[in-house]
Amino acid sequence: MSRCQSPAGTLCPKALDPRHYGQSGICVLVLNLSYYSDAHSNSRKADIVVTGPQLTTFLGMPAVVSSPLMRKLLDLVERIAQSNASVLITGESGSGKELIARAVHHYSLRCSKPWVDVSCAALPENLVESELFGYEKGAFSGADSPKQGLFELANHGTLFLDEIGELEPRMQVKLLRVLDGVAYYRLGGVRKVTVDVRVVAATNQNLEQMVRTGDFRGDLYHRLGQICLHVPPLRERADDIMPLADHFLKQSNPRSFFSAGAQAELQRYSWPGNIRELRNAVTKAAVLTLDLEIRGEDLMLGQPGPGSMMGLAEAVSNPANLDGMEKTTILKVLAQTNGHQQKAAELLGISRRTLSRKLKLYGREAVRQTCAS
Ligand SMILES: Nc1ncnc2c1ncn2[C@@H]1O[C@H](COP(=O)(O)OP(=O)(O)OP(=O)(O)O)[C@@H](O)[C@H]1O
Ligand SMILES: [Mg+2]
Repeated sequence: MSRCQSPAGTLCPKALDPRHYGQSGICVLVLNLSYYSDAHSNSRKADIVVTGPQLTTFLGMPAVVSSPLMRKLLDLVERIAQSNASVLITGESGSGKELIARAVHHYSLRCSKPWVDVSCAALPENLVESELFGYEKGAFSGADSPKQGLFELANHGTLFLDEIGELEPRMQVKLLRVLDGVAYYRLGGVRKVTVDVRVVAATNQNLEQMVRTGDFRGDLYHRLGQICLHVPPLRERADDIMPLADHFLKQSNPRSFFSAGAQAELQRYSWPGNIRELRNAVTKAAVLTLDLEIRGEDLMLGQPGPGSMMGLAEAVSNPANLDGMEKTTILKVLAQTNGHQQKAAELLGISRRTLSRKLKLYGREAVRQTCAS
């Protein structure tokens, strides 16, 4: 059993660890109300932890862990979680970065303190500062009462900054100062605020390259990446595919099962959208197939449709051609959405800002031709 030391000095039981008894076939239900009674914690008041073969949960997010690569990564997470170092998690979209971020908090000494998460891409640019750092009454029109920022809400706990590559330059400076322990002011405030927060950040962008092109501050990159964790894409951990597929299928219909052909198809496909794509494909097949047996063709892998990016699978197996394939895929999806950038960004699993940056790179003419075709 994995344990962590709560600040009160008591040991709090946590999820049984799938790496240690994954093959045992045991299924345990732990209902621990008192441990999760922290007033601050969001959604942790009563956390039901169901574990069994290769299944656990990190802050309520189910995790199937089977491949040696993922077991190794979780071993590393458990070791580094005990420190206060900032963690930068990289990996392709849908590979499970948020799950790893939650695991960092779960295994950390801060596990009974708040977990606060925010997507930097989802915050409108003009709200980022007030959301992160809070504001005082009257700071701007509409600020009728003071509001704590996410840093204050996460005090003594963990703040997860998802899609950190989307953070605008001015906020990057302020974030760096706060990470360095410098006190800050709420918007319109006169009282300095100091917080004790561990920051975990994630991105599917190449931050190193963004540093080279001046799109991301090098000093912040190094500060965030005191510890760097990379989540491997699903195609590099084939041992995870069937346990994950079975898990998602059971969630949709516990009586359904995969035919031998479907299993071969699941293994053959290269999953450019990673676990998110696998979950969507399995759920769709379970819902649309009348029979309990899911066959290869029911999975409709590699066929165009929402969230499915035909051609990208081939691109990822040919890194030399990646940039070109990315451009082709982006323009193809943009054409499918008749030039609607928000819809295209959603289908591609990237933020609207990332899409518009890439389109700027391709040039107006390429985009115009795509939308006209
Ligand atoms: N090991 C796992 N077991 C079960 N489900 C998983 C696992 N890893 C990821 N998932 C599920 O796959 C989906 C995508 O995972 P997650 O949101 O962590 O990806 P991500 O890397 O953060 O993607 P993005 O870059 O697009 O934000 C989620 O629904 C998550 O619950
Ligand atoms: Mg994510």
